[in-house]
Amino acid sequence: MHADNWANKAKQEGYRTRAVYKLDEIIQKTKVLKKKQNILDLGSAPGGWSQYVKKKSPSSEIFAIDILDMEPLDGVHFFLKSIEQINEIDQIHSIKGSFGLVISDIAPNITGINAVDIENIYELNCLTLDTAVEYLDKSNGSFIMKTFQNSMLKNLRKKMELSFKIVQTFKPAASKKQSGEIYLYGAYK
Ligand SMILES: C[S@@+](CC[C@H](N)C(=O)[O-])C[C@H]1O[C@@H](n2cnc3c(N)ncnc32)[C@H](O)[C@@H]1O
Repeated sequence: MHADNWANKAKQEGYRTRAVYKLDEIIQKTKVLKKKQNILDLGSAPGGWSQYVKKKSPSSEIFAIDILDMEPLDGVHFFLKSIEQINEIDQIHSIKGSFGLVISDIAPNITGINAVDIENIYELNCLTLDTAVEYLDKSNGSFIMKTFQNSMLKNLRKKMELSFKIVQTFKPAASKKQSGEIYLYGAYK
């Protein structure tokens, strides 16, 4: 399906972004969304993924952060903060280790200088991974993170394999083929 069709489908179904269909495909395949869990959405604005997880799992507690503001969503606790500042958010910090699912669609600003972009993506992904490991429930937590196909991807995957029992790579149908974007999934069980 063409990107415009995913966008139209999102509009029809009342979602803020077509990015929900990327998350939907990974969630359908991994079955990680439970009836009731604490969910952390990193880089959440404008709110498509938060909207999706709240709709599919209404009893879950959703915590979302972004450096850009986000229109309020019923049942989603949003914080205008960078991932670097997550430990300053008491409501999230106080339940560290209880999250069943951490999702991250964060992407750094692209400079156009390939080597710099690859380094920036890797650093932000490592920070996101460390954050997820810190906040997830180690008995059954799962993690979904956006990254890009580049020369550091193998290193990133290896780093994920040190933390998670299961690690998989997904290129959802709703993700533009030419974008280079892919998603890594990690699970403790
Ligand atoms: C592709 S968008 C997320 C779209 C979202 N999944 C949705 O469906 O609405 C990526 C987001 O990551 C955010 N972001 C980038 N760097 C960040 C950081 N250091 N901390 C928190 N959010 C960040 C951007 O502001 C942007 O809103």
